[in-house]
Amino acid sequence: MRYSDDLIEEIRMKNDIVDVISGYVKLQRKGSSYFGLCPFHNEKSPSFSVSPGKQMYYCFGCGAGGNVFTFLMEYENFTFPEALEMLADRAGVELPKLEYSKEAKEQADLKSALLQINKEAAKFYYYQLRQKVGEQGMAYLKGRELSDETINKFGLGYSDKFSNNLYRYLKGKGYSDDLLRQSGLFNVDEKRGMYDKFWNRVIYPIMDVNNRVIGFGGRVMGDAKPKYLNSPETKIFDKSRNLYGLNMARSSRKKNLIICEGYMDVISMHQAGFNNAVASLGTALTSQQASLLKRYTDEVLIIYDSDEAGVKAALRAIPMLKTAGLSTKVINLRPYKDPDEFIKNMGKEAFQERLDHGMNSFMYELKALEGQYDMEDPQGRTDFFKETAKRLLRFEDELERSSYIKTIARTYQVEPEELRKMVNRLAMKGAGMTETVKPKSGQNRNKEKQNGYEVSQKLMLTWLTSYPEIFGEVSRYIGPDDFTRPLYHQVAELLYEQYRQGEPNPARLLNQFTDSEEQTEVAAVFNATIPLDSEQEREQALLDVICRMKEDSIAHRTEHLVPTDMQGLMQLMQAKKELEELKAGKLHLHISFR
Ligand code: GTP
Ligand code: MN
Repeated sequence: MRYSDDLIEEIRMKNDIVDVISGYVKLQRKGSSYFGLCPFHNEKSPSFSVSPGKQMYYCFGCGAGGNVFTFLMEYENFTFPEALEMLADRAGVELPKLEYSKEAKEQADLKSALLQINKEAAKFYYYQLRQKVGEQGMAYLKGRELSDETINKFGLGYSDKFSNNLYRYLKGKGYSDDLLRQSGLFNVDEKRGMYDKFWNRVIYPIMDVNNRVIGFGGRVMGDAKPKYLNSPETKIFDKSRNLYGLNMARSSRKKNLIICEGYMDVISMHQAGFNNAVASLGTALTSQQASLLKRYTDEVLIIYDSDEAGVKAALRAIPMLKTAGLSTKVINLRPYKDPDEFIKNMGKEAFQERLDHGMNSFMYELKALEGQYDMEDPQGRTDFFKETAKRLLRFEDELERSSYIKTIARTYQVEPEELRKMVNRLAMKGAGMTETVKPKSGQNRNKEKQNGYEVSQKLMLTWLTSYPEIFGEVSRYIGPDDFTRPLYHQVAELLYEQYRQGEPNPARLLNQFTDSEEQTEVAAVFNATIPLDSEQEREQALLDVICRMKEDSIAHRTEHLVPTDMQGLMQLMQAKKELEELKAGKLHLHISFR
């Protein structure tokens, strides 16, 4: 069940993209477009453009682009229905109730009730911390040098010494035992019935990227065990898919994100101005968390505790982050245990210094590997370099591999040529190649070389959306079927239809693509520019693209022609004739560019 295309379009039209984006990004008019600093990557000079005419945005720096829906999906991490809902609300359009299946509706209701309970609980704890009963909690947090501002920003709270206060409070609000049980905030046992999970602890609410409270951590105010209690997983709290602090770190505008282990580390880094810090929630980093990070950054700094467990955790995280397409550095905090301690003892300048000198993750892995060999023994050293050579094979890029060889040679005092020979011998044997890690992220895929025919098809779509006046002439030679790449074919079908209806409307067309990678790609096509000034140049360039597309399409059709398809054959012959004539200059494009 989904909303009608007309309704979606109505909502899009009632939300001017410049107005909406202005709420997030400071925009300045330049000619017919607006420019600002891109919210999707870190930059110093504005390459993020918003076109009121096209009702689309595009970043010339990182390639992010789309319409008003895409913007909210990317910026707020909304799903399409969530973006639609928000914009409908903003424009005062009432959305009809969709008829969900009974089950889906029950699930949605349950989740929203649980979110409500969490929010009530967060408010309850927040209030308690700031009352007389919360004195001890407040003193503890102040003792850890947290400022009032920090305590408020993270919504910290306190659960008092009585283990049924929250329960009574929420019962008073009318929540059923069944719902309360599913919130994870209570323990149930036969004798005592239901009672608060958290009592006599300071409370750290855990929020998702959209600032909704999904769970809690509670810390004792001394040395008692267990130090932390955390909400269990619930219908709204999936530990493997959330990161503590990401709701704030996502908009830090720093060039990387810092991942650490603990609540206190995040809080104390934010307080010191390192507001790009997040923590995995007391568990090992998962691949879902790595993908989540990749949405907001390309580089991650790992700051795990300086103990053996921390090193192990880093070694596990590195390949995970790499697979998600992230580059990684490891930060050393020795002799201090964690960021909180380091900052307290050394201050933020020294901390920044450590961040600036992160160790490349490959070199970090080698350092750990070194520990497994007896480097004083010639055989041990040889074995170490053999394993190193094998790992070097994972770099497909010659230059990258070569620069690592140089660094390793320097670090481990070995002749670079010796190491290079080792690598080459292994390569010949084909060893290690199976382990090659290829990043799967969208951005990297976009950068992969496109086939020649895809390039011309893409260019043609850009021509057709940049110069509506050429459509009549171009469509005599090129039809939607000449776009052989499925995505471009789909776009061409829609675009030709819009022209037939009288008006091209790229932003509307984009509504049809709900997959965010497709959306970005289509938006990029629409926002590309054709940098030719003179009319003559343009006509020649357009003719070139038409000819190339025709050639490709003829080749494609020839390959797929069924021998008995007489009509297809006739069309093919006609196409070939036209192409010859176009190339020979016998047919002219009659275009005047406006
Ligand atoms: P402080 O000791 O207050 O500085 O906390 P921390 O955040 O530095 O904690 P630490 O580095 O000891 O642990 C890292 C994270 O692991 C914590 O933030 C918790 O999420 C989790 N954790 C630590 N101890 C416990 C525990 O006893 N039980 C559970 N469930 N999780 C814990
Ligand atoms: Mn700590």
